[in-house]
Amino acid sequence: MITLFFNQVDSTQNIAKSIAEKTSDEFAVIARQQISGRGRRGRSWFSPLGGLYISIVFRKVKCLRLTSLAVAALIANFLEKEFKVNVKVKWPNDILINNKKIGGILCEASIKGNKLEYIIIGIGLNVNIPRELFPIEFRSNTISLIEIVNSGDLNLEEIAGKLINEIIYVKDWNCNEILIKWLKYDCTIGRKVEVISDNIRFTGIARGIDFDGSLIIELSSGERLKINSSNYTIRILS
Ligand code: BTN
Repeated sequence: MITLFFNQVDSTQNIAKSIAEKTSDEFAVIARQQISGRGRRGRSWFSPLGGLYISIVFRKVKCLRLTSLAVAALIANFLEKEFKVNVKVKWPNDILINNKKIGGILCEASIKGNKLEYIIIGIGLNVNIPRELFPIEFRSNTISLIEIVNSGDLNLEEIAGKLINEIIYVKDWNCNEILIKWLKYDCTIGRKVEVISDNIRFTGIARGIDFDGSLIIELSSGERLKINSSNYTIRILS
């Protein structure tokens, strides 16, 4: 896959978007650091040197609505294989080690009519970022690969290259396959969780993912709700 490297960008998502609008290629953009890295829910993504910041543009995927779950499951599997670490995923797209966030995914699609023009899959992975560098408010629930793999700084280019080679497989996974792969790493199933958005908070038991990508929550009344907006965050209670 064509891969473009940058030292510093505002956001690899923005660079990928401007190229995707002008070409019909599939490609990846990698930056050593981002000035305005973006996360979900309008949040910023802490992006100093030492992290992995990749945006990948695909023109076609078999199961668009589950693409971000597919990428999360693929990354979990990749980290497990490469670094022998125990990795979990949390809906909609958090990658966790020891219950702390090591990476996240931001998918942004351009759809015209009902046809996919492109999807930009943004991946942020904390690799060689020392804990004391993280803003104080994230420090207790964030982790970097270097903390778990005791072998000095890891080779970012090598990790990026291997990861990009694997992410290509996601294009061909159907929705069923994705759900099976996701469930292997899901850390919320059967657990009591709190569902949080800007204006609602409630608790329930996580009962898995539906085919449309929504999280199924069982309330104490037994009623099941589908949480299908990316504006929610899930906190595991017990
Ligand atoms: C999240 O909120 O968990 C998603 C974080 C996604 C961050 C990545 S880093 C590469 C790409 N460029 C961005 O500005 N964001 C994504």
